[in-house]
Amino acid sequence: MGNLENAVIQAVRCLEGTFGLAVIHKNEDKIVVAKKGSPLIIGVGENEMFVASDVAPILEYTKKAIYLNDNEIATIKKNEYSIQDLSGNNIDKKIHEIKWAVDQIEKSGFKHFMLKEIFEQPDAIKNVLRGRIKNNKIKLSVNVDLNSVERIIIIACGTSWHAALIGKYLIEKITGISVEVDYASEFRYRKPIIKEGDLVIVVSQSGETTDTLAALKEAKSKKAKTIGFVNVVGSTIAREVDSGIYLHAGPEIGVASTKAFLCQIVTLLLFALFMKQERGFDLDEELLKELGKIPNKIKQVLVESDNIKHIAEKFKDAKNFLYLGRGINFPVGLEGALKLKEISYIHAEGYPAAEMKHGPIALVDKNMPVVFVASKDHTYEKILSNMQEIKARQGRIIAVVNEHDEKLNHLVENIFKVPITRNELSPIINVIPLQLLAYHIADLKGIDVDKPRNLAKSVTVE
Ligand code: G6P
Repeated sequence: MGNLENAVIQAVRCLEGTFGLAVIHKNEDKIVVAKKGSPLIIGVGENEMFVASDVAPILEYTKKAIYLNDNEIATIKKNEYSIQDLSGNNIDKKIHEIKWAVDQIEKSGFKHFMLKEIFEQPDAIKNVLRGRIKNNKIKLSVNVDLNSVERIIIIACGTSWHAALIGKYLIEKITGISVEVDYASEFRYRKPIIKEGDLVIVVSQSGETTDTLAALKEAKSKKAKTIGFVNVVGSTIAREVDSGIYLHAGPEIGVASTKAFLCQIVTLLLFALFMKQERGFDLDEELLKELGKIPNKIKQVLVESDNIKHIAEKFKDAKNFLYLGRGINFPVGLEGALKLKEISYIHAEGYPAAEMKHGPIALVDKNMPVVFVASKDHTYEKILSNMQEIKARQGRIIAVVNEHDEKLNHLVENIFKVPITRNELSPIINVIPLQLLAYHIADLKGIDVDKPRNLAKSVTVE
């Protein structure tokens, strides 16, 4: 009779591409697992074992996880496990203790995890800042020489890519170092040019996104220095990078990312400030002070959730949405549009407001809701004229503006007023009403907000 482990080893040797496998046989009381490229973890419970691609689904049952590496196979029985390499030699592997608490993975009275996670954002920001600012100095343990960095490339997918775009504005403004942002899937296949002095930052909530991981490996193969901004401790990307900064957002269960996005922006900001400090410059104390006020300012927006729901009722049957912003708030428009399409299935596009006249304006008529992010900064007057162009075509304007801004009242159908903050921090505040708008529209449509169709929390396929 054959042996299941040997059969899996032989099969794995023949396989090409990436995979995560769990193999069973009708005569055997065990599961044999193997992986290449894709993540695979084993959860060690009491009289039970788990196999998953991510820690989030097993947290409810156990806090003990083993991360399998490529070319390792594990045999799992109810009370035991063993791990071998492809030559059949036994391997001893460390069991990781997951620090997340059980109440973090419960809905705690909220209708959906996504809503809970939106409301957790003030605390998430406190956690990402905790212990990292002292006496106007940034404390980060980054084990990469930052003084020799001449160019930064940030790689990410999805919402993390939007955070990366905001990071570009922040790092360039604060440090004067040039930043490029790339989709991981594009970076990995376009033979990217990496030179000495380049730093590659990968941004990922899960730390398991296949394209991001492959792009990281591509960057490493070209000898780039790498840093990861990751939420899930011990995840594959966190283990592969030269150095990392954890987001400390806590577990994010809702498929559409919210609190991790905010923590990514704050981490990118802290990193920009840290780089400036490492290069011998003083930090902007006013900015640091204002950063400390952000959790309370977010709370001021969250209390408006029911009002935003009323606006959602008016727009829930729209077929298309346009989101427009400028400068550091252009990616906020992208993120607002992504949130809406992910969970409400309404087609939505984000654009830099000035680009509207190069195409999207052709779509505007009395049925088109156009969401503007219109903070009072150096682009405000320009945004105002973009609004007038939409109004002239009878588009239905929804605007996120600063409190006390009365100038736009005559142009807009609905307005979200948010607390004033520094331009660098405005995306953190401005995105909140857009998250809530998407949430309420999706919920009013009766969609399972936490598990929207066709989407996955960790995308472990190419
Ligand atoms: C999926 C998720 C998104 C996420 C993206 C990147 O598409 O649904 O919410 O932004 O993957 O994931 P990562 O874990 O790398 O940030």
